[in-house]
Amino acid sequence: MESITELKDQDNTILRSFIDYELYALKKYYTPRLCKWESLSKYQQNIIPWFPEHLRAIKHGIKCNRKFFMQVVAVTVEGHLDPILKAKPPTEKEMDKVVAMIAQVAREWSADCAKERNLLLSRVRARLDKCYPRETTDRSEIIIKNPGCGTGRVAAEMALDGFDSIGIENSFQMIAVSKFILNDLIPKEHLPIYPFVHGFSHWKSRKAQVEEVRIPDIGNLKDIGMEHLMSIDYGSFVSDMGADRNIQISQEYSLFPHDVFTRLNHKHSAHVIITNFFIDTGVNILNYLQTIYYNLKPGGQWINFGPLLYHFENDDGKETVADFDWDKKEVIKMQKDVPLQGLELAADDIVSICVDKLGFELIEFESDILSGYGSPKGASGLPGYKCHYWVMERK
Ligand SMILES: C[S@@+](CC[C@H](N)C(=O)[O-])C[C@H]1O[C@@H](n2cnc3c(N)ncnc32)[C@H](O)[C@@H]1O
Repeated sequence: MESITELKDQDNTILRSFIDYELYALKKYYTPRLCKWESLSKYQQNIIPWFPEHLRAIKHGIKCNRKFFMQVVAVTVEGHLDPILKAKPPTEKEMDKVVAMIAQVAREWSADCAKERNLLLSRVRARLDKCYPRETTDRSEIIIKNPGCGTGRVAAEMALDGFDSIGIENSFQMIAVSKFILNDLIPKEHLPIYPFVHGFSHWKSRKAQVEEVRIPDIGNLKDIGMEHLMSIDYGSFVSDMGADRNIQISQEYSLFPHDVFTRLNHKHSAHVIITNFFIDTGVNILNYLQTIYYNLKPGGQWINFGPLLYHFENDDGKETVADFDWDKKEVIKMQKDVPLQGLELAADDIVSICVDKLGFELIEFESDILSGYGSPKGASGLPGYKCHYWVMERK
C-alpha cells in the first residue's frame, strides 16, 4: 500500500477528530445518561440499580475506542503531532463520522461481520473463479478496481486471491485507518473496539451494547505477501478516473490539465470493477456509471452489491456545474445553485440505462438481499439494508 506522504490541512483536521473522539463521545453518549440517572428519584434509581455499572461499561468502551484512534494517529503522523493540534477543529458532522468509523472497522475487520462481508465476497468469488480460474490464469495480470473501498477489506481480499487490486477512497479517515490496519503488523484479534456503545435503541440485552469486538480477524496483514498486489488511491473516483467526455465540470470533475491527463491513464484500465455499498454515495450517479464504463476494458465486468440509499437525498447543499464544448474548447453553459440531491435512480432504471444507453450487457441480477452494515449480533428490530447485486459486462 502506498504511504501518505503529505498531509493537507483538512487531513490534519480529520486526525484531530480522532484525537477529539473521546471527549465528543463522552459528551454526546455518556454524560446525558449519567445526568438522567442522577436526576431520578431514589425510588426509581433503586428499580434500576445496575444502571451506573452499565454507564461505566459504556465509558470503558469509549476509552478503548479512543486508544484505537490514537494508534491510527500515531502511525499516520509518525510523531509529528504539532500540525494536528493546531488544525481547525472538526465540525459536528466530522465528529459523527469518526463515531461511525468504529462500526466501519468492525464491519471490515472483525470475524463477527464475516457473514455480512460474505454476501458480496461469496458472489464475487464464484464469478471470478469462473472467469479467471486460478489454474489457468495469471491473476496478477488481472486488474480489479474497488471505488469507495472504505478501509480496504474487499481490495485486500482480492489481492489475497492473487489479483492486482486497487482501492479508491476519497475519505482521509478511511485511508488513515486502512494504512494502520494494512501496513502495521497487528496480530490477529489483538485490538479491542466497542462499536455499539453509541447506539441505545433496539437492544434485547444491554450486555450486547457493550460487547467487545476484536480486530483484525486476519493477523499481520503486512506479512502475508499480498502487499505488492494491493494499493489504495486517495482520491475521488470521478475526479481522478472519470470518463474523458460527457461529464459536467463540477466540484468533483475539473478540466485542469493535470486532472485531464490523470484520467486518460485510466481509460480501459480495469478487467473488473467491484462496487460495494458505493453507487448511492454520489451527487450524480450517471457520473459513476460513465466512469465505470470508461475504466473497464472491453469485455470487462462490473460487479455491484449494495442498497440504493442515496446519501444526498435529503441534502440541501448546492453546487455550480458547467458544460464544456470540446471543439471550441470553452465553457458553454454554467449553472449555479444546482441541488446536490435530485438524481435518485431505481435499480431497474440503472440497469436499463447501462444496457440501453451505455453499452453494458446484464449477466446476473438479484434483489432484496438483506444485509447489515457493521451490525451488532444482539440487536433486535434492525431491518438492515435491502441490497441489489448485479454483474454487467462492458461490450
Ligand atoms: C458506504 S461506504 C462503503 C465502504 C465499503 N465499500 C464497505 O462496503 O464497507 C462508501 C465509501 O465510499 C467512499 N466514497 C464516496 N464517494 C467517493 C468518491 N467519489 N470516490 C471515492 N470514494 C468515495 C466513502 O468515503 C466511503 O468510504
